[in-house]
Amino acid sequence: MGIIFHEKTGTFHLFNDEISYVMTVLQNGHLGQLYYGQRIHDREDFSHLQEKTFRAMTACPFDEDGTFSLNLTRLEYPVYGSGDFRYPAVEVAQENGSTLSDFVFAGYSVAPGKPRLPGLPATYTQEEGEAETLTVTLRDELTGVEAVLLYTIFARYPAIARSVSIRNQGESAVHLKRAMSLCLDLPDSGYHWLQLSGAWARERHIIRRALTPGMTAIDSTRGASSHEQNPFAALLRADAGERQGEVIGVSLVYSGSFRLSAEVDAYDTTRLLAGINPFGFDWKLEPGERFQTPEAVLVYSDEGLNGMSQTFHRLYRSRLARGYWRDRPRPILINNWEATYFDFTEDRLIEIASKAKECGVELFVLDDGWFGQRCSDHAGLGDWVANPRRLANGVSGLAERVEALGMRFGLWFEPEMVNEDSDLYRAHPDWILRTPGRRSSVGRHQLVLDFSRREVVDYIHDSMAAILGGAKVSYVKWDMNRYITECYSAALPADRQGEVFHRYILGVYSLYERLREEFPEVLFESCASGGARFDPGMLYYAPQCWTSDDSDAVERLKIQYGTSLCYPVSSMGAHVSVSPNHQVMRMTPLHTRANVAYFGTFGYELDLNRLSQEELAQVREQIAFMKQYRSLFQFGSFYRLKSPFEGNETVWMVVSEDKKTAIVGWYRVLNQANKSFGRVRLMGLDPALEYVNSATGRSHYGDELMHCGLITSDPLSALIETGRLEQGDFESRLYILKAE
Ligand code: GLA
Repeated sequence: MGIIFHEKTGTFHLFNDEISYVMTVLQNGHLGQLYYGQRIHDREDFSHLQEKTFRAMTACPFDEDGTFSLNLTRLEYPVYGSGDFRYPAVEVAQENGSTLSDFVFAGYSVAPGKPRLPGLPATYTQEEGEAETLTVTLRDELTGVEAVLLYTIFARYPAIARSVSIRNQGESAVHLKRAMSLCLDLPDSGYHWLQLSGAWARERHIIRRALTPGMTAIDSTRGASSHEQNPFAALLRADAGERQGEVIGVSLVYSGSFRLSAEVDAYDTTRLLAGINPFGFDWKLEPGERFQTPEAVLVYSDEGLNGMSQTFHRLYRSRLARGYWRDRPRPILINNWEATYFDFTEDRLIEIASKAKECGVELFVLDDGWFGQRCSDHAGLGDWVANPRRLANGVSGLAERVEALGMRFGLWFEPEMVNEDSDLYRAHPDWILRTPGRRSSVGRHQLVLDFSRREVVDYIHDSMAAILGGAKVSYVKWDMNRYITECYSAALPADRQGEVFHRYILGVYSLYERLREEFPEVLFESCASGGARFDPGMLYYAPQCWTSDDSDAVERLKIQYGTSLCYPVSSMGAHVSVSPNHQVMRMTPLHTRANVAYFGTFGYELDLNRLSQEELAQVREQIAFMKQYRSLFQFGSFYRLKSPFEGNETVWMVVSEDKKTAIVGWYRVLNQANKSFGRVRLMGLDPALEYVNSATGRSHYGDELMHCGLITSDPLSALIETGRLEQGDFESRLYILKAE
């Protein structure tokens, strides 16, 4: 790994064993992009990679060089208005109304490691040798505004983390109208665009399409990263797939409204932009102030999507997630939400917890409904004190009873929200985001607290800290169940209203940070009506996230498969729930529900008292099995082998770091009569090791399993046991492969 600057040619070369990233100072002083991809040899001069030619209808900075136009140049942090007609990375409005800037190279520095981003989540290093950071300062002489570009290259990952800090070193205030985290101009447009899209209860489905001239974009305008789009996209070569081909992944470490776009111009170059959604964004920068963008992470893979995902998984699992729980196998939990909804008493909860304990569950989580007047979703949000009619001895009383059973206790909060029917709202009706003179829309009967205000965050902090400090709470589920409307803060002046969305998210981050510091051993699980904030920003504070409110095993195949494009198995909350399922009323076998949930942070979300003895025996086995293998599931290398988006079968697998153990999950949605043979080529095994297949007792070399494949046709044993080959719909099987 290294960062080289060739003084004579003004060329930067960032590289590690796998990738190179090359930029140069252009003849007008702007920073130009020359190459990003597989590692190449260094040389002093790469300027030939900047193709220059005369073209009609271009505007040129210098009359004497008609081949140099910004519109034909690949740029690192472009502006609009001086020849480049593509969408820009940055837009700064001056007091005179002009939005033009001229960001010229003014200096650079290289430092080991990676600096923290103030107030924002970001990847980090533990030792200086893990990464190197290049800081390039670009300065607009007229306004005194500086764009400071940060590039961190990691030693062990084909990844570059980028962000920008905009500093107003001038004499007058300016308004930032757009400050993207990353711009990457690529020399051609031969890519497909892959995104993760969906809605509540069907998050992160994979959508792939070819780039065409013009704009391909996803975004969120909702104040959260959203169910609808995820702040992740990949550019893939047309021939790239899960196992092979060139892929560039981009992931924004941010939980608010974002935008990712790829713009193909008339000459088939592609501009990739990622950052805070510029729509409605307007940040005032007084002289001396600075604005830090969120971080964007670029990952390069020449081993297809699996290669890309493994880099994201390793990086996010170990250098984005933090703290006590980062490397620890996660507790097997039971959550009462789908078991009781709002209808519970303390004794009923203890009944649920006791049965769970008997089966081996380690953590009991009390979900919504324990506080204030919260007997339905019409009241109580904001009043974070136990409802004595439900918990006669408060949270601490219940926590003690749960601990006495030999389990840990966890609790649900929705810190950012308030019901109109709450003491908090009655005391502070002005504490919500609300536009003067306009109706306030409600979502799930609730309003959004103005987390851009310090005193609001402080108040919520104090009430949460009182609960967490006053009872044995080992886990917090932090929920967020509506998007932001009528976004306006009573605490900010007119010319700062464009800051509210971002300030809100900064408020959320600051509360997370304080609570994490004060309660370092509490396991935080983020949630937003399921996965509306399943994003890297949240992972920095909470190492796991409730993946979706849809707990149906079949639906979860697509949701977890799509989520795995960017996010590690250790981050995906996955529970076994009741059959028929509450979201889709589908009936699936208990073993299939578990076989899907093992590939996540495993738990149960039902009342085990309602299961038959036979089912309870299965649950006990499942829990014992998960305890044995959870480190492998949560921290092994995960491979996608067959996509639920492409057929009736899904297959994925995890492999241990030493490659001696692997578990393959095989799932079939609908059964068929007289079906074809089935086999799947495995990945990531040691070709020279001999693995025993738990399903057949036979042993196979890794190379056979990876090249001939693992046979997944219904095993003969099923015929012998059941007298019939057909095992019904929603069938699944785990294959445990162990090398001697
Ligand atoms: C959201 C969450 C659920 C549950 C409910 C409680 O929908 O995603 O898991 O906590 O809120 O109201």
